[in-house]
Amino acid sequence: MEEASQNTETVKKVFIQTYGCQMNEYDTEKMFEILKHQNYFQTNSREDADLIILNTCSIREKAENKVYSELGRLRKLKSVKPELKIGVGGCVAQQEGKEILSREASVDFVFGTDNLFELPEMLKKVSRGQKIIQTKRHARQKVRNFIPEYAFQQTQHHGIKAHLAITKGCNNHCSFCVVPFTRGIEVSREPENILAEAQRLTSAGTREICLLGQNVNSYKANGVDFVELLHRLDELENLQRLRFISPHPKDFHEELADAFVTLPSLCEQMHLPLQSGSDRILRRMRRWYTMETFYEKVAMLRDRLPEATISTDLIVGFPGETEEEFEMTMEAVRTIRFDLIYSFKYSTRPGTRAAEYPEHLAEDEKSKRLQILLETQGKIVQEKNEALVGSIQEVLVQGKHYRKNSITGRTRGNHSVHIDDSCAIAGDLLSVRITGALQNSLEAEIISTSTVLS
Ligand code: 5AD
Ligand code: SF4
Repeated sequence: MEEASQNTETVKKVFIQTYGCQMNEYDTEKMFEILKHQNYFQTNSREDADLIILNTCSIREKAENKVYSELGRLRKLKSVKPELKIGVGGCVAQQEGKEILSREASVDFVFGTDNLFELPEMLKKVSRGQKIIQTKRHARQKVRNFIPEYAFQQTQHHGIKAHLAITKGCNNHCSFCVVPFTRGIEVSREPENILAEAQRLTSAGTREICLLGQNVNSYKANGVDFVELLHRLDELENLQRLRFISPHPKDFHEELADAFVTLPSLCEQMHLPLQSGSDRILRRMRRWYTMETFYEKVAMLRDRLPEATISTDLIVGFPGETEEEFEMTMEAVRTIRFDLIYSFKYSTRPGTRAAEYPEHLAEDEKSKRLQILLETQGKIVQEKNEALVGSIQEVLVQGKHYRKNSITGRTRGNHSVHIDDSCAIAGDLLSVRITGALQNSLEAEIISTSTVLS
């Protein structure tokens, strides 16, 4: 494959707008790498681009609406620049397919979540004026390593932190969730292929890897399960920190809890999506755990590592959720005292079981419940952040903060930390003392620069 820089005459510019989760961000990075091999360079300006791709999300209705409003804006851009090509990928594309082409004539191609590696062929056809819909799912065998080898062979600059997808798709079919429809059945990537990508990342300067998967801890391929994979990654030289998202509580076992203690790189931080504090709602959500077992899982981690941070996802206003059942979610939040919550108003997703359930709540009732939840959680976070003042933490420096002479980084528990008057640089590992607690971050002073990695 010829290097893009050697053939500047045909160089084109691509702008990709990413919506939604880390998996989409990861797919966008891979699209850039695939397109680089087609002589496309990244631009940050829509007006400047020869090709615009929207990498879409359909997890909630709001995210989906954003795509159509953006397409409306792009239609205007194309009317003054007819040679502009517009593509729509990701979850909305997978689900809506040709509906997008019929709703928005300015779109040239639509491709699904299994079809990234077909971008070069699609673009060839598009350049000949064809309209393309490519949302065909491929056999497990074909997509097991997700993207073509060349797309991550020449890792150039990746940041200090990088994502690495290890599974795609989901077999759980939680009743509210559209992901099994948009991402398909669960496929685990081969461990050798994951390790090769991790190796390339760390050789190129990455110090923290976050493993990605819709149900990341159900990973299993070639006889290697999730805990075994963590062990193998932990052995990589220069990998300082390992995290993963998003696990399912049903697959959080003693062996994984033990790994937090035994593996030096595995950060003391766990995302454990609860969704609701009511057993009846959990059953209707098809989550396969009860509050009793969820409390046991929290204890499994806290008994081993009392300082571990735990975050969660919560949905308020699920169909049929009574005031009492919402109060059970509040009770769980007050009892567990999560370090961080991602909370959402239930959003009806066409095709899911919950969409067919009776007793959908009014929008203003959902908003009211969300507000109550956020207020309580805000106080908990403030108290927990204040309790950290005076503690010693390890911070991996990410880079400069917008405040002059200030840098920003993260603790192993994933708290964001700002440090004034420092000339530390991205990749430095610092020992700091926490001096102040803000709503969403901490302030600190340096005790020592324990390792300079970069
Ligand atoms: N409505 C609201 N929130 C949802 N999530 C998933 N589907 C929906 C939906 N239909 C939330 C869940 C999940 C997170 C990624 O998004 O909390 O864990
Ligand atoms: Fe959706 Fe449930 Fe799968 Fe998560 S585990 S992606 S919430 S179906």
